[in-house]
Amino acid sequence: MTEEQYKPVSYSKTTISELMIPAYANFGGKIHGGLLLSLMDKVAYACASKHSGGYCVTVSIEGVEFLQPVEVGEMVTMFASVNYVGKTSMLIGIKVIAENFLEGTVKHTNTSYFTMVCKGADGKPRQVPALSLESRDDVRRFLEAIKRKQLRQSYKEELDNAKTNLAVDTEIDKLVNERCKVATGFLI
Ligand SMILES: CC(C)(COP(=O)(O)OP(=O)(O)OC[C@H]1O[C@@H](n2cnc3c(N)ncnc32)[C@H](O)[C@@H]1OP(=O)(O)O)[C@@H](O)C(=O)NCCC(=O)NCCS
Repeated sequence: MTEEQYKPVSYSKTTISELMIPAYANFGGKIHGGLLLSLMDKVAYACASKHSGGYCVTVSIEGVEFLQPVEVGEMVTMFASVNYVGKTSMLIGIKVIAENFLEGTVKHTNTSYFTMVCKGADGKPRQVPALSLESRDDVRRFLEAIKRKQLRQSYKEELDNAKTNLAVDTEIDKLVNERCKVATGFLI
């Protein structure tokens, strides 16, 4: 049996910064959410690829809520680190801040979690190194990731169950206070 290989969280911590230029703005003059997502995907890849030493793919994204808009002229910085590793997957935590140099302000726009899976040359998921936790924050994030994983699993089961058991005919009354109207004769 081969000995377990460990890499510290600090080894793969990755930061990227990018100035938000007018070309990145949407029709409302704010920065496109899609552009920020693309930058997050990039930093998640760099972090996961460094930890695993391999090619990685994005499997799921959690916690993408843009609580404040990002403006043209602000400097966006993304801090990524491996919060948790499974066998072939890694949970990458990404904290996003936007700095306004003219006003001297910094805002925390969101913290999101990307699950990345490392793939081998055969295209199949490949084992990644274990994680060496060197600080209280490292331990807290790892424990939080375990909770996140358990909650995701039970949420998924509940959702699947709710979908399977959804009975349109008996539950249609729940629409009474919703902002929708049902076309006459739709049940035919
Ligand atoms: C994700 C993928 C690699 C899973 O492949 P698979 O053959 O089903 O492999 P497994 O079931 O062994 O899963 C591999 C790992 O992914 C994790 N995983 C699978 N689906 C997941 C999901 N929906 N959310 C979080 N993790 C997931 C598993 O838990 C497992 O982690 P572990 O090894 O640490 O325990 C495969 O579905 C894939 O290649 N998807 C496309 C990814 C891609 O192209 N991304 C770019 C999007 S544009």
